Amino acid sequence: MASPVEVKKICCIGAGYVGGPTCAVIALKCPHIQVTIVDLNQSRIDAWNSEDFSLPIYEPGLDDVVKACRGRNLFFSTDVNKGIQEADLIFVSVNTPTKKNGVGAGYAADLNYIELATRQIAAVATSSKIVVEKSTVPCRTAESMRTILEANSKPNCRFDILSNPEFLAEGTAIDDLFNPDRVLIGSLQTPEGISACASLTAVYANWVAKERILNVGLWSSELTKLAANAMLAQRISSINALSAICEATGANIDEVAHAVGYDSRVGPKFLKASVGFGGSCFQKDILNLVYLSESLHLPEVAAYWRQVVEMNEYQKNRFSKRVVDTLFNTITGKRIAVLGFAFKADTGDTRESAAITLIKNFLNETAYVNVYDPKVPHEQIWQDLQEAIPNKPLETIQKQVTLSASAMDACLNAEAVVIATEWKEFKEIDWQTVYDSMKKPAFVFDGRLLVDADALRKIGFKVTSIGRGGV
Ligand SMILES: NC(=O)c1ccc[n+]([C@@H]2O[C@H](COP(=O)([O-])OP(=O)(O)OC[C@H]3O[C@@H](n4cnc5c(N)ncnc54)[C@H](O)[C@@H]3O)[C@@H](O)[C@H]2O)c1
Repeated sequence: MASPVEVKKICCIGAGYVGGPTCAVIALKCPHIQVTIVDLNQSRIDAWNSEDFSLPIYEPGLDDVVKACRGRNLFFSTDVNKGIQEADLIFVSVNTPTKKNGVGAGYAADLNYIELATRQIAAVATSSKIVVEKSTVPCRTAESMRTILEANSKPNCRFDILSNPEFLAEGTAIDDLFNPDRVLIGSLQTPEGISACASLTAVYANWVAKERILNVGLWSSELTKLAANAMLAQRISSINALSAICEATGANIDEVAHAVGYDSRVGPKFLKASVGFGGSCFQKDILNLVYLSESLHLPEVAAYWRQVVEMNEYQKNRFSKRVVDTLFNTITGKRIAVLGFAFKADTGDTRESAAITLIKNFLNETAYVNVYDPKVPHEQIWQDLQEAIPNKPLETIQKQVTLSASAMDACLNAEAVVIATEWKEFKEIDWQTVYDSMKKPAFVFDGRLLVDADALRKIGFKVTSIGRGGV
């Protein structure tokens, strides 16, 4: 095996939810390595560099990490070329959204950003690099990256490709990065590939136990990321499918999940019924797997995974319908408070958030909606609603939707409160005061199994929870 390169300078292309936290933690844990995170988006980089640390993404503990290393061995820049030229190792952490047009539209991953970043590496690198695919990509993308890099490289410039998918969960990203269940590194099983893998392993070994760093083949690594997300989302869709049966039979989904989770083969985690999963990854990665399966002429496999996404859509729409049905079959002109807009607690990320579907459905029923979220900026909410309802001008949406400054404000004069995100502060609201300020009968629809339904019923609320009989 060629002796592994000692990594002294890292460049990360893409300063988003993955590139930012991941490489900030590498800088914290490896003070001897210089880490530069680059992005084309000037305002994102400005926010990462802001004096008051108003970072572009909210993630508990992230600002402490950035405060400890920014300017020391952590830098944020829009100078992508310089970042590439100086680095020994480059993480490619750009976005890979679902394709909107062309072949595979609605399913396949759009690899345009990956390809552009790869071509840029090939064009500007003047020395050998280890190029690490950090973005989630379809199986065999590394092969395409390698072809592009090799076809465009200069003499004495070698590129070794690794796959190192990221398993952090938003909301707990810093904890996940500090104590990962595993770090997965895929490489070609050639002497050069194994050597590059050893270089990256040495970076993680600064804080991750060796037995948690798994070295596998490139394609296994790429597929593992899709498989992990598909199986996590499948668990949610499974418990959500059971929640529908609970509502129809009077069983209680929390009791069922608890008892099922006691089986050590199933385990207790990730069995919480809810209004549906969101986030930028689950749906996108499953659709990607569906597309892969279809391309491989495995229609039954594709149908199996597609159903996980369909169940999620069903759950969101089923919950909206339950709100309408419970409010005497009409919400026209009624005011509904939606608590939470982020796709989960402890993040400001709204991509594929269930709240967007709920609000869209309520607006279609000509209700008025008050929205409150502790972390999502108002401009983001308007942008998401506009994208979700393209046939309505923003001014029309703004006549129906009010963005509130607090949960209490949102609930004032409302007929119903819908809990869409499991923010801890919603658990701690003074529900008596909320009740007093609402129209009667006052309804609560708990889409996250967050509040104590019995306590709320004692106050006087009519409470409907996912996976339980009503009011
Ligand atoms: N968000 C998550 O929780 C998560 C978890 C694991 C994996 N992933 C995967 O990681 C990847 C990145 O996700 P994200 O949530 O960080 O996306 P993001 O949209 O937040 O960030 C991507 C960034 O890349 C930048 N970019 C795109 N092309 C560029 C280029 N050529 N040069 C410089 N910058 C460029 C964009 O401006 C953007 O800021 C995706 O493939 C995603 O599937 C995400």
